[in-house]
Amino acid sequence: MTKILQITDTHIVPKGQLAYQQVDTSTALAKTVATINRIVDQLGPIDLVLVTGDLTEHGNAEEYELFRQLMDPLKIPYQAVPGNHDKRNAMRAAFADADWMPRAGDLNWHLDLEQFSVLGLDSLVEDKAHGALTDETISFVSTHLDHLNGQPVLIGFHHPPFEVGIAPMDAQNLRETEAFSQAISGYHGEIRLVCGHLHRSIVGSFAGHICQVCPGTSHAVTLDQRENSENSLTMEPGAFMLHEWREDRFLSHWLPVGDFEGPYPFLGVS
Ligand SMILES: [Fe+2]
Ligand SMILES: [Fe+2]
Repeated sequence: MTKILQITDTHIVPKGQLAYQQVDTSTALAKTVATINRIVDQLGPIDLVLVTGDLTEHGNAEEYELFRQLMDPLKIPYQAVPGNHDKRNAMRAAFADADWMPRAGDLNWHLDLEQFSVLGLDSLVEDKAHGALTDETISFVSTHLDHLNGQPVLIGFHHPPFEVGIAPMDAQNLRETEAFSQAISGYHGEIRLVCGHLHRSIVGSFAGHICQVCPGTSHAVTLDQRENSENSLTMEPGAFMLHEWREDRFLSHWLPVGDFEGPYPFLGVS
C-alpha cells in the first residue's frame, strides 16, 4: 500500500527567534518529527514526507539550514515545494545535494510510487504573497499526466486554488487558475490535490478533483470570516496529513502533532 505524509508551513526563523514574536516554529517542527517517528510503525511503511511550502519565514540560508537540521532525525525521506515565504534560489541552493531538486527553472519534481505518482509544483511568485503556476509548470503537469495515462496522481503545491472565506488569505490564493484547470480536468484517472498556506484543514474541490488543505505544524490562520477581518494567527494545535491509496481511492487522514494518552482498548464493548 502506498502512503505518504504531508507537512506544511513550518515557517522556520533563525535560531532563538519566534515567528511573529509569538510562535516557536522550530520546537513545533521538532515535535512534528518526533510525532511522525513515534507513530510510523502503526501506520506501516511510509514512502515520503511531502512538504508543501513556507519551509522558512524569510527564505534565507540560515533558516534553510535549521530546517534541514530539524528534519534530519526524520525516519522517512522528504521532498519539498516552495511557498510564498520561501525564496526559489536560496531553497535550490539549500537542497543542492538532493536528487529531487531541479538544477534550474521552477522547483517542480515528480516521484513515481507503487500505487500513485506525486507531482510537486512550484506556485511561488517571488516577493508576492499570492501564487501562480508558470507556463513551464503547466507544461510540466500536462507532460506528466500524458505519460501517467490514467494512473492515480497526487499533486502537491502551496497556494489553494479557491477562496475559503478568510478575506486576507483569499486575496493571496492561487491566481490565474484557468490553464491549471484545463490541464487536470480531463484526466481519466484519480487526482488528489493537496496544498498548504492556510494552516488549516479544509477540503474543497477544483477542476473536478478533491483538494485537501493541510494544517500547519505550529499555528493556524484564524478562521475569521467577517468581511473586514484582520490577518492573524491562532495557536491551534499543529497537525499534518496522511494520504494513502486504499483499494481504488485516495484517503486523507488528519493527525495532530503531540503525544496523547492511550491507546486504551475498548473494554466493556461487546
Ligand atoms: Fe504559511
Ligand atoms: Fe504561505
